[in-house]
Amino acid sequence: MGKHRVLVVGLGKRGKHHAAHFHANANFEVVGLCDVIPAPLAGFAPTVGNPPTGTDAAAMARELKPDVFCFCTLPSIRSEMIRIGVECGARLIAFEKPVALTTGEGLEVKELLSRSPAKVVVSHQHRYGKHYQAVKEAIVGGKIGKVHTVYGVAHGWAAHMLSHLIDYSMWYNDYAKPSWVMAQAAGKHKLSDVHASPDYVGGFVQFANGVRGIYECGGGAPDVPEVQRWWGKNRIGAIGTEGYAEVYTGNGWKAVTPNGVLAGDGTMAYDQDMPGYIQDMADWLDRGKVHPCCFENAYAGFEVMMGMLRSAARGGQVTLPLLDGANEIEELRRAISGAPLQVTLEESRKEYMPALP
Ligand SMILES: NC(=O)c1ccc[n+]([C@@H]2O[C@H](COP(=O)([O-])OP(=O)(O)OC[C@H]3O[C@@H](n4cnc5c(N)ncnc54)[C@H](O)[C@@H]3O)[C@@H](O)[C@H]2O)c1
Repeated sequence: MGKHRVLVVGLGKRGKHHAAHFHANANFEVVGLCDVIPAPLAGFAPTVGNPPTGTDAAAMARELKPDVFCFCTLPSIRSEMIRIGVECGARLIAFEKPVALTTGEGLEVKELLSRSPAKVVVSHQHRYGKHYQAVKEAIVGGKIGKVHTVYGVAHGWAAHMLSHLIDYSMWYNDYAKPSWVMAQAAGKHKLSDVHASPDYVGGFVQFANGVRGIYECGGGAPDVPEVQRWWGKNRIGAIGTEGYAEVYTGNGWKAVTPNGVLAGDGTMAYDQDMPGYIQDMADWLDRGKVHPCCFENAYAGFEVMMGMLRSAARGGQVTLPLLDGANEIEELRRAISGAPLQVTLEESRKEYMPALP
C-alpha cells in the first residue's frame, strides 16, 4: 500500500509536532507545508523530507490533492480550513482542538463535514499517555465499582483546557450522550485572547446513562497539589460505587479501591503521545478501525463545552444537543461582570489579573 500524502497547514508549535510525527511514521509522507508566515518553513522543511512550502492553504490543497489535510492553526479559523480540506477531497482531515470557539462556528464545521465522506480526527492526544490509559483500565477492570461521577479540573483557560478535560472524562464514561449542562463563569480578561474563554467556568453535566460530570476550568479552579507545573495541574477522573481513579496530567495517576491504592507514573509529553495518535490515523484509513479521537467524540465534548458557556451567559439548564448557532463568547462579554477574577493560585495572577497599565 502506498504512503498517505499529508499536507500540514499552520507550522507553529503543534503543526511542527504533527509534521515531524507524520514524517516519522512509515505510513505517511509529508508532501507540503503551509504557513502564512513563510520564514520558519525553510528551516523546518528539511527535517520532514524537504516537501514544497507555501503560504496559501487553499492553493496548496488544490494543487497537491493530499490524502490527509492536517491543520494546526489557531481556533478562530476552523470552518475556513475545514472547507479547504473537504473541497480538496482529502480522505482524512486532522485538526486541533477545540472544535471551535462558538456554536455558530461549530455547527458550520459540522455541516461542512456532513457533506463529505472524509474521516475526521481532532487532537485530544493526551489520552495516549500511559497514566491516562491506566485510569481507563482501572475503570474498565471494575476496580472502582459502578461509575456515577466523572470530573475534570484545570487552571489553564477553557479554549485550551476544557476541551481536554471533557474529552478524557467522557472517555472514562464510555462517551455516554450528555443530556443537559448548567454552569457559571467569572472574569472577562481571557474573552479577548486568541483562545477566547471566560477566566473561570465551573459546571455540571447530566449524562444519559445517569452519570454526573463536574468541571472547573480556569483561574478559580482548586489547586491540584499532586502536580508542580501550572499547565499540568489537571485532575481528571471518575468516582464509582467502590472507589475513584484519577489522572494528573503532569504527574501520574492513582486509584483508590477496596483492595488498596493503585498508582503509577506518567506525564503528558507530546513526543510520547503523538506516535500512537498518528498510527491510529493509518489504522483508520487502512483497516477501518475508527480513531478514538474521531470527530463524533470531539463534537459531543464540544457541545458540552459550549453548553456550559451558554448556561453561564443565559442561566439555567441547557439541553443538549445544541441545535441553534450562537456566539457564546459575545454573550459572555455582556453577561459577566467586570470584576477581576479571584484566583486560587498566585501563579495564575499573571494570566488572569494582569497589572493595570
Ligand atoms: N492538543 C494539544 O495538546 C495542544 C497543545 C497546544 C495547542 N493546541 C492547539 O493547537 C492549535 C495551534 O496552536 P499552536 O500552539 O500550535 O499555535 P501557534 O501560534 O504556535 O501556531 C499556529 C500557526 O498557524 C499559522 N497560521 C495562522 N493562520 C494561518 C493560515 N490561514 N494559513 C496557514 N497558517 C496559518 C500561524 O502563522 C502559526 O505559525 C490551537 O487550536 C491550540 O488550541 C493543542
